[in-house]
Amino acid sequence: MSGLEACLFDLDGVIVDTAKYHFIAWRQIADELGFAFSERDNERLKGVSRQRSLDILLEIGGLALDEESKARLAEKKNGFYLDDIRKITPAEILPGAEGFLWECKAAGLKTALATASRNSALILDLLRIRSLFDVVVDGNKVKRTKPDPEVFLLCAKELAVEPARCVVFEDAEAGIEAARSAGMISVGIGDPAILKRANMVAPGLASLTVEMMLAAFDPGKERATR
Ligand code: BG6
Ligand code: MG
Repeated sequence: MSGLEACLFDLDGVIVDTAKYHFIAWRQIADELGFAFSERDNERLKGVSRQRSLDILLEIGGLALDEESKARLAEKKNGFYLDDIRKITPAEILPGAEGFLWECKAAGLKTALATASRNSALILDLLRIRSLFDVVVDGNKVKRTKPDPEVFLLCAKELAVEPARCVVFEDAEAGIEAARSAGMISVGIGDPAILKRANMVAPGLASLTVEMMLAAFDPGKERATR
């Protein structure tokens, strides 16, 4: 019997291909500020809040700005991002994501969306998948950004499930750290060379099944995966 009771999903880069729009928008800001910003640099921005992302971006560019300028830049970046996001359709749901969520439902597993994004309500509406999540915890609900475990612990609390019975799907290094700190099993979605600290890594939800998760995370085997 598996000890798994709930699946917690990050949004950007796990459920929907919005990670690229965050990157494009931040690169526009870096261009305007006059420094280069690579995809490798962008890994550090994944999973963290908009404000923290800007701080990391400025660190990469070697710039220090006052709070007012930072607030203006964060808003500008969000404007660029929303220009792209408003056009998204369910076609941009990542392969296998919707099917995996339906499989969770069929297997009696609870589901949660756990994201730093403050735009999650708009994105879920445009993708028409809000009803597939029992709980949504986003950047409007939490104070601390990943790698802090707050977002995942709040999901577990709202689902009334123990953290040890949750599995987290994450494309960000910060998200994997947050899952570990929450005492949850983590599945990295993306490159194993980057997501080294995850319990397991897959290229996308299309390569995973709920059955695989139930088998991999039964209580007897759980320790062995750590
Ligand atoms: C996370 C993304 O999901 O949300 C980060 O991985 C992003 O890159 C963060 O900065 C905040 O998103 P938003 O939509 O509130 O700017
Ligand atoms: Mg992500």
